[in-house]
Amino acid sequence: MSYNLLKGKKGIIFGALDENSIAWKTALRVHEEGGEFVLTNAPVAMRMGQINKLAEQTGAQVIPADATSLEDLENLVEKSMEILGGKIDFVLHSIGMSINVRKGRHYTDQNYDWTQKGTDVSATSFHKVMQTLYKKDAMNSWGSIIALTYMAAQRVFPDYNDMADNKALLESIARSFGYFFGKEKQVRVNTISQSPTPTTAGQGVKGFDGFISYADKMSPLGNASAMDCANYIVTMFSDLTKMVTLQNLYHDGGFSNVGVSNEVMEAFTKDA
Ligand SMILES: NC(=O)c1ccc[n+]([C@@H]2O[C@H](COP(=O)([O-])OP(=O)(O)OC[C@H]3O[C@@H](n4cnc5c(N)ncnc54)[C@H](O)[C@@H]3O)[C@@H](O)[C@H]2O)c1
Repeated sequence: MSYNLLKGKKGIIFGALDENSIAWKTALRVHEEGGEFVLTNAPVAMRMGQINKLAEQTGAQVIPADATSLEDLENLVEKSMEILGGKIDFVLHSIGMSINVRKGRHYTDQNYDWTQKGTDVSATSFHKVMQTLYKKDAMNSWGSIIALTYMAAQRVFPDYNDMADNKALLESIARSFGYFFGKEKQVRVNTISQSPTPTTAGQGVKGFDGFISYADKMSPLGNASAMDCANYIVTMFSDLTKMVTLQNLYHDGGFSNVGVSNEVMEAFTKDA
């Protein structure tokens, strides 16, 4: 169902790798709501991914960019404005990667070169994206910028490893940059803290299957899916949420405010 919430709006969507990606579902929903956009991902991800299929489906053009490279980001922002015929209304940063997680290095035994790379890709890249947009004055007033995060930024999830620290930094960058973007250009910046979701990045976390079921049982509404997240992002890109900025918005079926649920208690109660 379409509400035409994004009619006439133009944007950039980072991070659609395959059809499970949150960014992939977001691109489909934004397209349905009348938004136009450029799709981008790291050149290496493009070779593995199926982004051209999504581009065809949504009438989008694809511009490769490593989100850690200022040169790539400058090219991306310039080309996007050319293709879309003007300034940008919405940006989705849907990027995350930890080499320590990928290679099974424990949090207490990090390879710091990998840690640094993960921070650059997962958190600093958000600053780089915003700084590039800001310096080029590429955002329209009342535009909306969203990055995706996870609650491990606030609470301990042992296997989330150094991604927890990256997410804490990402959320802080959203607030700090959001201040200047709001003051100078009336642009809002928020992070959405999503439920565990079966994607390539999500499944990279150790014990993901057990964890996703646990989160589902803890949440009164159950886990939010990638498509639910796409719907939420659409509302955040729309004019209906104009005064929301500098927020970390939980999109998790209620998980973040639950101490324990009956289902989880039952698993620990002897005579249940
Ligand atoms: N899946 C979950 O459980 C979950 C939960 C909360 C938040 N998130 C966050 O959602 C976002 C999207 O992840 P996803 O779950 O859709 O997984 P995904 O694997 O589909 O997406 C991650 C994307 O990051 C891209 N990327 C990696 N390095 C890059 C670089 N240098 N430059 C540009 N792009 C790069 C990948 O190519 C990929 O498209 C991430 O920030 C992730 O941390 C995921």
